[in-house]
Amino acid sequence: MMGPVTATQTSSCPTLRVSSVLRAAEQRDSAWWRHAVIYQVYPRSWADSNGDGLGDLPGITARLGHLRSLGVDALWLSPFYPSPQADAGYDVADYREVDPLFGRLADADELIARAHELGLRVIVDLVPNHSSDAHSWFRAALAAGPGSPERERYIFRNGRGAGHELPPNNWESVFGGPAWSRVTEPDGSPGQWYLHLFDSAQPDFNWDHQQVRSEFESVLQFWLDRGVDGFRVDVAHGLVKKDGLPDHRARTHMLGDTEEAAAHALDGHSPEPTHHIPYWDQDGVHEIYRSWREVLDSYGGPERILCAEAWVEPQERAVLYTRPNEMHQAFNFDFLGTPWIAEDLVAVIERSLIAADSVGAPSTWVLSNHDVVRHATRLGYAPGTRRPNGIGAEDPQPDRELGLRRARAATTLMLALPGSAYLYQGEELGLPESTDLPDELRQDPTFVRSGGEEKGRDGCRVPMPWFRDAPGHGFGPGPATWLPQPSFYGDYAVDQQDGVAGSTLELYRALLRRRRDLSLGSGSLAFVRGYGPDEGQ
Ligand code: NOJ
Repeated sequence: MMGPVTATQTSSCPTLRVSSVLRAAEQRDSAWWRHAVIYQVYPRSWADSNGDGLGDLPGITARLGHLRSLGVDALWLSPFYPSPQADAGYDVADYREVDPLFGRLADADELIARAHELGLRVIVDLVPNHSSDAHSWFRAALAAGPGSPERERYIFRNGRGAGHELPPNNWESVFGGPAWSRVTEPDGSPGQWYLHLFDSAQPDFNWDHQQVRSEFESVLQFWLDRGVDGFRVDVAHGLVKKDGLPDHRARTHMLGDTEEAAAHALDGHSPEPTHHIPYWDQDGVHEIYRSWREVLDSYGGPERILCAEAWVEPQERAVLYTRPNEMHQAFNFDFLGTPWIAEDLVAVIERSLIAADSVGAPSTWVLSNHDVVRHATRLGYAPGTRRPNGIGAEDPQPDRELGLRRARAATTLMLALPGSAYLYQGEELGLPESTDLPDELRQDPTFVRSGGEEKGRDGCRVPMPWFRDAPGHGFGPGPATWLPQPSFYGDYAVDQQDGVAGSTLELYRALLRRRRDLSLGSGSLAFVRGYGPDEGQ
């Protein structure tokens, strides 16, 4: 556990000084997750075993050696469950199966077993805020009609207006457009509305319903029994909605970005607390995680973990998710969102460590994931440029060389920090975003729901290049890739960097080795001041 901030002064050099020390006090325990580096595998884009152009579980198992030689502690798999893929698998139709697109349940077992043999832990994605509209419960709810017990497991309401033709309130979907869709009742008449904070194919569960609660505890047990080491919990701050579902004006973008937050950031004000938005960060969510923690703890050691994806401001509320009897970790999106400005980075790191320490949790660090523009590209724009939701060919293009240089520096910083770090597949290659995908190939529902105004997240989800000269750069046995790889991806392929001094892959390996050898993940931290605001950028 980190200790309090203590200020010290050194005068060994006239210009440089160590201005503050964040000293690691006694480690409260040496649990693996307090300092682990966890690598996110996006199953559809990592490795394809059968040549259909979509990655799959056997493909992942076959290449786990890459993670072993990289030197990470665990992998987190984005969803591979049966799904119509309306939101790339974050629309789950069955929480206890594997989609045939990705393999079979036996392939998941094999993946877990092989990873464990290699000393890698496995974290799976749990999506509790919403299911797919193809989930048997939602189908039953549609068939059973208004007032039925089946409808109670989701959030159905009558519309406003004389003919109920208006949505029940003014909430907007994170992907754009209204957060409500109207159903046609079994008798063919226009009927009730259901809530979906994301796509209309992702109806929100009603977490006031006991069956929903027991169902998810049972899903946790299902995967724990299969040997997984933890869960990344999707939209963990969204499950409970404020009573009465009152109107609220703001649309939230991915990772909690709102227009207001952006405006506030520019004029130096703190953003509005997330829990003022009636569908985010309501106090009631914590009871759910306390009961989940009991389920996990009942499995004994070594500890299995929960990591919250919770876009919550201020940080003091975000860390409530990681109190000792709730989750183990929460993603630190403040770090990801901080512009490439030295003082800002120092400030966010200090703030994060102090906030996490206030509840005895490790801080986490992340720069890229499947929802944001890759950091090698993001950092290729002027510091302070607003983080776009996807980039198109007609948008201003990043400076790729500068972006890579900064990305390498950013990762070097991140992997030296105490706490747990998350990597996103391909960043170990310095992989840039694909910024010229043709619109007709885009699959992220944001693109359509925002009327094309936001390009969406496909650009960071393009299949990995493994071998420069193989078809599809070795993503699978043939040339097929579900999204086209940019022409320059071959130069970033694993085989171009493996064993090559100075390559980004070798940099990551060296950083991870050093982090492990020096126990940096559980170390203490001091900033040396006096280099000037943004030296060597
Ligand atoms: C967050 C996930 O990371 C994102 O990919 C997904 O679209 C939303 N949650 C909805 O499940």
